[in-house]
Amino acid sequence: MSRLAAFHDLSPRASSFRDDVLRGLGASPKRLPPKYFYDEIGSALFDAICALPEYYPTRVETALIQTHAAAIAGALGGRCALIEFGSGASRKSRLLITAARPAVYVPIDIARETLRQAAEDLCHAFPELPVVAVCADYSQPFQLPDLVPYRPRRRVVFFPGSTIGNFDPDEAVAFLANARGLAGAGGALVIGVDLRKDMGVLTAAYDDPQGVTAAFNLNVLARINRELGADFDLRAFRHRAWYAQAPGRIEMHLESCRDQDVRIGTTRIAFACGETIHTEDSYKYSVPGFQALAARAGFRPAACWVDDANLFSIHYMTC
Ligand code: AVJ
Repeated sequence: MSRLAAFHDLSPRASSFRDDVLRGLGASPKRLPPKYFYDEIGSALFDAICALPEYYPTRVETALIQTHAAAIAGALGGRCALIEFGSGASRKSRLLITAARPAVYVPIDIARETLRQAAEDLCHAFPELPVVAVCADYSQPFQLPDLVPYRPRRRVVFFPGSTIGNFDPDEAVAFLANARGLAGAGGALVIGVDLRKDMGVLTAAYDDPQGVTAAFNLNVLARINRELGADFDLRAFRHRAWYAQAPGRIEMHLESCRDQDVRIGTTRIAFACGETIHTEDSYKYSVPGFQALAARAGFRPAACWVDDANLFSIHYMTC
């Protein structure tokens, strides 16, 4: 890694994985937090989802950033501190970095090796850019490293991918309020938000015929087997995804194909045939709907970019 890169490992605790799994599967209805999809295998499967023809969000958002790079960079101004939540391979940020020339880039991700590799690659691609990587669970409070040495003009939080959709609206407001505090006075937020649209388009994006999304969903059970010594039979669960009209969200579940008991360490969990584990919500918003949500967190909507097919939105909001 170049000497301009720093790696802060806030070591998201392994013990919270066990606690969260036992709590979620002990609850009724059963659920699992979506953040646990992203181990090394899950991150690779998510990359494969992003390449699917049915999964438009990544492609459309990337094209939006490309098309409007100059306008977005103009909104950000030069030499900001660009702080990204859930940076993964940092592909979208490269476009912003090229256009906006930040004083420092701070990728934050829970997937340690993906983050390390991304930081290293960025240092090669942008030799002048200080990269301060933070391995953390950004859904929990954490300390941002000192950015004063980089003398940024302002802080901009970048939260692409419509990951905000994983939170229910009240949680999203709390999360946005936290991001606003992190950006601070004079700061801003650039956030990608998937739009409400035809139900067929949405369900195809979350239930692809190749079964990549199914493999992604089922991998969380495989991860529980690997890391927590459980005995989930992956053939005895199936991927389910549907659009719930009233809340405006895609729901993903894993449905038990028969009555069965699963052992996690010393704990036994009973599943009835047809019972599901709710593994993810992916909320969709209209442009004014999301602006109203962000306003509850104190953000002022300042600009919004939407593609011609009205699939996806990128909001620029000030603190
Ligand atoms: C990464 C949370 C934005 O909700 O679209 C993709 C995750 N789940 N396919 C989404 C996901 C199933 C994705 N986010």
